Amino acid sequence: MNIGLIIYSHTGNTRSFAGMLQEKITTAGHAVSIEEITITGHAPAQPGKFELDHVPDPAGYDAVILGAPVQAFTLNPVMKAYLEKLPSLSGKKTALFVTKRLPMLWIGGTGAIRIMKTACEEKGANVVGTEIVVWSEKKREQSIEQGAKNLTALF
Ligand SMILES: Cc1cc2nc3c(=O)[nH]c(=O)nc-3n(C[C@H](O)[C@H](O)[C@H](O)COP(=O)(O)O)c2cc1C
Repeated sequence: MNIGLIIYSHTGNTRSFAGMLQEKITTAGHAVSIEEITITGHAPAQPGKFELDHVPDPAGYDAVILGAPVQAFTLNPVMKAYLEKLPSLSGKKTALFVTKRLPMLWIGGTGAIRIMKTACEEKGANVVGTEIVVWSEKKREQSIEQGAKNLTALF
């Protein structure tokens, strides 16, 4: 399967997780390309204060995985803007993840995933799994390992 791993990362955590995930899914026998959404303007991105620069096209992939950080207790505005621009994902196998620092998943994490899931399903995606990766000192290693394992098992 040809998988597009489409991410936005501000400080590098989401990018770092995506790299590990790419390795695992590649080992499982799939082709995985990481594509980063980029912006021009103020960072960390605030709603209305940036422009999308590179907008990855999911059309050429059999499946997509979308990943972004939680910011200010919700989904990062760059991924929100990307989701608004997204063309059809009709029938496409789709997995979603966010990275966040605070250990409680329901503070921003579950809401961010809900926003991504709703937006993708509105475009016709078949959302098969979601993960919240906690980037806190205590939980990071375990959360990365488990998140990458769960997402890999979907493909
Ligand atoms: C402006 C800003 C706001 C953030 N707000 C939250 C938050 O509300 N909840 C949380 O758990 N982490 C929050 N974080 C931490 C990031 O979600 C976390 O470090 C994430 O892994 C960053 O991903 P990135 O390095 O790919 O940008 C925030 C970080 C920044 C820079």
